[in-house]
Amino acid sequence: MIRARITGTGSYMPENIRTNFDIEKMVDTTNDWIVARTGINERRIAAEGEYTSDMATRAAERALEMAGISASEIDLIVLGTITGDYPWPATACIVQNNLAANNAHAYDISAACSGFVYALGCASDFLQAGRGKKALVIGAETLSRIVDWTDRNTCVLFGDGAGAVVLETTEESDFGILSSHMHSDGSYLDLLYQPGFGTRMTPSAENIDNRSAYLKMQGNEVFKVAVRSLTDVSLEALEANGMSASDVSLFIPHQANKRILEATAKRIKLDDDQVYINVHKYGNTSGATIPVAMDEANRAGMLKSGDIVLLSAFGGGFTWGSTLIRW
Ligand code: ACO
Repeated sequence: MIRARITGTGSYMPENIRTNFDIEKMVDTTNDWIVARTGINERRIAAEGEYTSDMATRAAERALEMAGISASEIDLIVLGTITGDYPWPATACIVQNNLAANNAHAYDISAACSGFVYALGCASDFLQAGRGKKALVIGAETLSRIVDWTDRNTCVLFGDGAGAVVLETTEESDFGILSSHMHSDGSYLDLLYQPGFGTRMTPSAENIDNRSAYLKMQGNEVFKVAVRSLTDVSLEALEANGMSASDVSLFIPHQANKRILEATAKRIKLDDDQVYINVHKYGNTSGATIPVAMDEANRAGMLKSGDIVLLSAFGGGFTWGSTLIRW
């Protein structure tokens, strides 16, 4: 049986750090409130002239370098993002050009914070179907440009960054992506979305004045569904593979809020040392959180051959999903 296995990871975080103390000067908030309610201390902000495609390209280059392959060997590039360089064409195509990945077809996936898990599922299915041998899967976001920096309810949460993995087919059927699980429920749209500017709400002077171009969220409502969905989809992945929480070497959840991660881990019955958390350093980078965390854990030697790694994400749509991997 053919499976897809991760052979390289990479990430790129912008240099510019925005701390909670910096945000205290922008809106009516405090470092203490942000730390207590979210676990976030600071986040990275893309430099002027730095775009989602740039960060995605850097992360992809690092993943390719680790895998020891050239961009021309890549058959597919899938990029999870809701903050692409343009509404269209796909930012994945810009990355493909930057990398000179001339044999790859490339497309974006819009699944908000679940974007990377969705992208990983699509790329894994593509390779398992025998349609190619190597894929790049990326999560990259420049959320700082769609966050309303006058809205304390949302601006404290988000940051910028990118992570990537190289997926390659393997005949060792016990290793690699064991299963992917994806779900959506469009009835929750109003709780988390960006009203403008698509074709429903165009960039008229009125829509610009009423700040429609920025992300809107009803955080406490999102929180409840997030914990429930992350728990359910994590257990779904374990059950599908006849495993339980004690089999998990490392749980790498979408880094939205430390309280969400802790509540989810508790419900799944995972110990603290089974859960990877870096939300304090980067905030919520939406589709980028999981590949960035995976790259950090991998480079720190925390992912060893044979380890069971569980990824779970939840985001706008609503969308949610999980991936179970034998590393
Ligand atoms: N500083 C100080 N006070 C604040 C701030 C702030 N930055 N933000 C909100 N408050 C106030 C509120 O106004 C409210 O005051 P009130 O009681 O006087 O009305 C109080 O704090 C409590 O507000 P809640 O919204 O109930 O606070 P909560 O504990 O729910 O925390 C948070 C808010 C951090 C947003 C949390 O709900 C959360 O993390 N939600 C989930 C976010 C998420 O996971 N999103 C999904 C992914 S994002 C994506 O897909 C792009």
